[in-house]
Amino acid sequence: MAAATIPDEEELARAGLRLDIDNGVATITLARPERRNAMTGRTWTTLAHVGHSLPASVRIAVIKGEGPSFSAGIDLGMFSPEGVEGERSLMGDFDGTPESRSALDEAIAGFQEGFLWLRRPDIVSVAAVHGHAIGAGFQLALSCDLRILAEDAQLCMKEPALGLVPDLTGTKPLVDAVGLNRAIELCLTARTISAAEARELRLAELVVDGAELDQTVDDLVAALLATPAAAAAATKGLLQQAAESSLHDQAAAERSAQIDRLADLAAQMRP
Ligand code: CAA
Repeated sequence: MAAATIPDEEELARAGLRLDIDNGVATITLARPERRNAMTGRTWTTLAHVGHSLPASVRIAVIKGEGPSFSAGIDLGMFSPEGVEGERSLMGDFDGTPESRSALDEAIAGFQEGFLWLRRPDIVSVAAVHGHAIGAGFQLALSCDLRILAEDAQLCMKEPALGLVPDLTGTKPLVDAVGLNRAIELCLTARTISAAEARELRLAELVVDGAELDQTVDDLVAALLATPAAAAAATKGLLQQAAESSLHDQAAAERSAQIDRLADLAAQMRP
């Protein structure tokens, strides 16, 4: 199947995003610093579009934020009756009928697509987080395989405090990382987690001085790129299923993946 066309600069800008693709790395920048990189439905559907259209040569996706914050979460205008410019309000059209429930379900599923692709086995996703990562911003960071935090990072699952639930695919990685009890505490108090606590709770792989964030991410990316692509994708796939597999099934999956790898390597060695 032919890949979709990558969104152009204008479409990205309308969504508050920038995209640079270089040498196997797609860097996605949340680029609405004047709104602390608040995100709208369009941000997420465009993120989905980016994910579904990246060239096969892309092996790493880095997500970062411009300005003082990673992201202040959903653009609160999305909840106002008039919505944000050029987009439908999440509440304005909702009248509780089965039809409007189903329309909202479809809209949110489209938003979630912007977060789901970051788990693809053939891509390693890295969140470079500084400043606030609130609500949807925290969920975006949680959707990435790896999180590198600046010392000033502050994470907060704000949704329950606003009468809502985290619905952008963040609940599973949160529970996987911190356990059920801690996840309940973090979400239901909506308290802010410092970078140091995030490290302790295994919500961050590394915490670094803010001035070193970019270089640390570059070094990590270089190390990830040094591993052959097919082995990296197969290994990520195995690791992703490990928690939910029985030992027996996982051992079988390892054998099967290894046979594919050996077949591939043998083919490369044949004259
Ligand atoms: N939506 C829309 N505009 C926002 C915004 C948001 N989420 N966050 C910040 N802004 C705007 C502010 O209104 C302000 O605009 P003006 O210059 O026009 O006044 C501008 O961005 C700068 O914001 P601050 O002056 O507040 O900047 P700060 O650095 O002092 O504070 C902040 C930053 C702590 C992130 C603070 O702005 C804040 O608390 N924002 C709201 C966070 C929030 O509640 N987000 C929603 C979470 S729930 C969610 O994301 C998921 C979901 O689906 C429900």
